[in-house]
Amino acid sequence: MSEILRIQDLAVSYGQIEAVKGIDLVLNQGEITALVGANGAGKSTALLAISGLLKPTRGQVILDGKDLTKLAPHEIVRSGVVQVAEGRAILATLTVRENLDLGAYTRKDKAQVPQDLDWVFALFPVLANRAAGLAGNLSGGEQQMLAIARALMAKPRVLLLDEPSMGLAPLMVQGIFRVLKQINQTGLTILLVEQNVRQALRIAQRGYVLETGKIVLADSGQNLLHNPKVIEAYLGA
Ligand SMILES: Nc1ncnc2c1ncn2[C@@H]1O[C@H](COP(=O)(O)OP(=O)(O)OP(=O)(O)O)[C@@H](O)[C@H]1O
Ligand SMILES: [Mg+2]
Repeated sequence: MSEILRIQDLAVSYGQIEAVKGIDLVLNQGEITALVGANGAGKSTALLAISGLLKPTRGQVILDGKDLTKLAPHEIVRSGVVQVAEGRAILATLTVRENLDLGAYTRKDKAQVPQDLDWVFALFPVLANRAAGLAGNLSGGEQQMLAIARALMAKPRVLLLDEPSMGLAPLMVQGIFRVLKQINQTGLTILLVEQNVRQALRIAQRGYVLETGKIVLADSGQNLLHNPKVIEAYLGA
């Protein structure tokens, strides 16, 4: 299993409060890695630091031997590490198609873009049907799909997602997890932050459990699903 992204001793503070306290995490090429934990554990903070939107107080995020923490957020995107925006952050006054075109804006391989557009429309047929409609008219779940599709149009090497299933109806949640699995099957590496611990660990090859800013467990998704501590803390009876 070859490693694509390595996070070493990453720490992030808000003023005096250290929210992420020196975490180590490895993403293997082509795998889904789940990062789970309770409210306030520091999951979003860790993702924001990986994306470059928060500056870590120490530590490194290394992609192919290159330290991303020295780069600006847009340079990190261009390196191939792309975070899916929250569903509500899509551009409501633009059409679905225009939102997708914006996702591909920074790409140099423009010739490949139509092919990827076909691919995301195949993944999310509802977006194909609504391509000419305003993004603001989509349902919450459809907007979340558009946010994922837009990130895919940037042709990421590593896709970061922060609770893609949050606030969605159960059927829509199933749909999102199914699509993430499909996307992963094309070889894309994914770091998935979820409060829906059971679903996340089911589709993840590996998982990490974060508690108050520290990694307390790291194992295969399957092993974590059956770990008594995980069951007690996150999966209920
Ligand atoms: N902008 C901020 N300013 C100060 N403290 C913050 C800020 N954002 C988050 N925190 C604090 O940092 C800690 C980690 O928060 P974070 O949002 O990363 O957790 P999380 O694991 O994503 O939680 P959730 O499951 O609720 O999304 C929490 O104690 C939170 O209160
Ligand atoms: Mg969060």
